[in-house]
Amino acid sequence: MDGPQRYYVTTPIYYVNDAPHIGHAYTTLACDVLARFKRLDGYDVKFLTGTDEHGQKVEKSAAAADMDPKAFTDKISRNFRDLADFMNFSHDDFIRTTEKRHLAACQDIWRRLQERGHIYLGSYAGWYDVRDEAFVPESELTVGPDGKKLAPSGAEVEWVEEPSYFFRLSAWQEPLLDFYQKNPDFILPRTRRNEVLSFVKGGLQDLSVSRTSFRWGIPVPGDDAHIMYVWLDALTNYITGVGYPDTESPEYGTYWPADLHMVGKDILRFHAVYWPAFLMAADLEPPRRVFAHGWWTNEGEKISKSVGNIIDPRELVEKYGLDQVRYFLLREVPFGNDGDFSHRAMVHRTNGDLANDFGNLAQRVLSMIAKNCGGAVPRAGSPTGDDDTLLAAAHDMHAGVAKCLDIQAFHEALDVLWGVVRAANAYVDHQAPWVLRKSDPDRMETVLYTLAEVIRHLALLAQPFMPGACERMLDQLAVTRDHRTFACLGSGNALVPGTTLPKPVGIFPRLVDETGEGAS
Ligand code: MSP
Repeated sequence: MDGPQRYYVTTPIYYVNDAPHIGHAYTTLACDVLARFKRLDGYDVKFLTGTDEHGQKVEKSAAAADMDPKAFTDKISRNFRDLADFMNFSHDDFIRTTEKRHLAACQDIWRRLQERGHIYLGSYAGWYDVRDEAFVPESELTVGPDGKKLAPSGAEVEWVEEPSYFFRLSAWQEPLLDFYQKNPDFILPRTRRNEVLSFVKGGLQDLSVSRTSFRWGIPVPGDDAHIMYVWLDALTNYITGVGYPDTESPEYGTYWPADLHMVGKDILRFHAVYWPAFLMAADLEPPRRVFAHGWWTNEGEKISKSVGNIIDPRELVEKYGLDQVRYFLLREVPFGNDGDFSHRAMVHRTNGDLANDFGNLAQRVLSMIAKNCGGAVPRAGSPTGDDDTLLAAAHDMHAGVAKCLDIQAFHEALDVLWGVVRAANAYVDHQAPWVLRKSDPDRMETVLYTLAEVIRHLALLAQPFMPGACERMLDQLAVTRDHRTFACLGSGNALVPGTTLPKPVGIFPRLVDETGEGAS
């Protein structure tokens, strides 16, 4: 018999040169929502995140901190792990590229590439962008105001001249184009796919895959003078995480190829061009999808350490609440586009969607039940057309949300839920259960029962986005822990009339920002 369907999702592994910021939290949050959704949907999920600890940039940062690179990476990697716990991320594994298991994987993939004739020894003379750990062709350089040469990302480049092994990337142009054509959803969003296609159609140069001018990296097997280029090392983490080099292991067999590598737009080329080429050359399967999300700016400005406008996710959470921040980041901006963070938008969104719409719906329904139905789930009675229509909309949400999440359209998934939140609020106004209390108490119970069922569906389906708030909402509906998966959606596991409910408490308080926005 076949087991459950599996789902393997990965975040990029984060450079340990600096403190984690909102951009890092954003990428992992998106993966967390997908992992939680799939688990609740019955999938066997593997969710991998971690830290990228080798390379010239990290070596330089360690030297600047006057620390040994190992001690330095231990310290910064810990910050990323702590942030993941703080944000309530549900990863199954946290990989560090300085681990033994990863050394074995990198050296093995190198050998496979070499044995198959895809690697040759030469020498590199050209420009290198240390910030992005990228070799930059002369044709892509620009000159900054102070006369310094800059990579397309705006980072300064330095001249590098050293013996180097090369990967025959030039030979992979046609196979890659063929692969993209056969797998039209390999790169999302579409606009990003087009960018990659035109880059590859423009011709590919062989890629330098080893360095000799510094030591902080994985030694090239059989030639200790070289360390592996940090991107070949880093990308390999995705297979180390599932047991590679043991391709016969149950983990590798179950989870590889990955369903999704989530990345920011700045690192798409590494994931959508180099990585599938390395894998195909090593006779390993490429992943199924790479999604490139956009970048956040801060109140209209590019986020950068030198400008000093880095957004610390911890500060945001302390100010606005974890679930509020998780909701905002995925609702405010269509996923894939760039977005601007502003405190005003954060307050506005939270008060509108969470406090007024969702929170108020739950609060007023649960208070009415507490006051008028003896603090227990009301009787379902005989539902009418209006009740059935609303319940049917609640039952349809699961398929709607799943469809949006399959293409990483988080904002649209939330819109599916909010369509029902709005319909439920309109239903409360229209049915006016506070009037029915006197005129038709049985009908009042049916209306409140219908609403409680709709809230149960909303809270179940919103769990991946706002795990804490939804947990509290489900507690208030006395939904037991073993009835919180998506198998419990629909009428088969509906609330049981007469079940005692705890005293209702508000879940999404209204926020007030420094400018007074949000004060009622
Ligand atoms: N170490 C590489 C990834 C190797 S994966 C095999 C790396 N690390 S990073 O720490 O610089 O960036 C990690 C992620 O954070 C990237 O996906 C990047 O797009 C994202 N972000 C960094 N700043 C960001 C914003 N301002 N906004 C949104 N995401 C941003 O690249």
